[in-house]
Amino acid sequence: MIQNKIDYIKRGAFDELYTPKEAIECILPYIPNTVKIIWECTAIENSEIVNVLEANGFKVIKSHLKDDLDFFEYEPHQYDLIITNPPYSLKDQFLKRAFELDKPFMMLLPITTLEGKKRSEMFQQHKVQVLIPSKRFNFIKEKKGSWFQTSWFTWKLNLKSDLIFMNV
Ligand SMILES: C[S@@+](CC[C@H](N)C(=O)[O-])C[C@H]1O[C@@H](n2cnc3c(N)ncnc32)[C@H](O)[C@@H]1O
Repeated sequence: MIQNKIDYIKRGAFDELYTPKEAIECILPYIPNTVKIIWECTAIENSEIVNVLEANGFKVIKSHLKDDLDFFEYEPHQYDLIITNPPYSLKDQFLKRAFELDKPFMMLLPITTLEGKKRSEMFQQHKVQVLIPSKRFNFIKEKKGSWFQTSWFTWKLNLKSDLIFMNV
């Protein structure tokens, strides 16, 4: 029983948490106006990330593992920015792959992703900037309020400050 729980937490408890509308609406002002095409590389059906971006005039390329479009193998031919909320059990691998792709990104991650020696070095080396909302977002279909804070980890956006506190 305990082992099952550990396996579940390792594999997936934090992997199927779907982004609510308010989490994507608050970052719209920080998307550079040169951006036309956005890649959501873990796009679920009826994704609010996709809905909000399309409603705001962006062309969105959607991909997901269930369609055999694995973020670690697939890359669209043309896009300006990645916006995603990745599976948290694979956050380090997603960050590594995103840096390798060498395109700007905005990734919704637990704020505790700031912790750790390796990540600290990686974030300093790449000059990652973080957008911090003033409240915790409740993921879609969560029965209780979220028990952890998330923030948008961004790269290559040239924001005015490395830490930006957003009033949401
Ligand atoms: C935290 S959920 C977020 C879903 C959606 N991006 C959103 O924000 O509502 C992460 C999603 O990534 C999917 N996923 C896991 N590994 C993946 C991979 N290698 N490539 C693409 N999608 C993956 C999971 O199945 C899950 O649906």
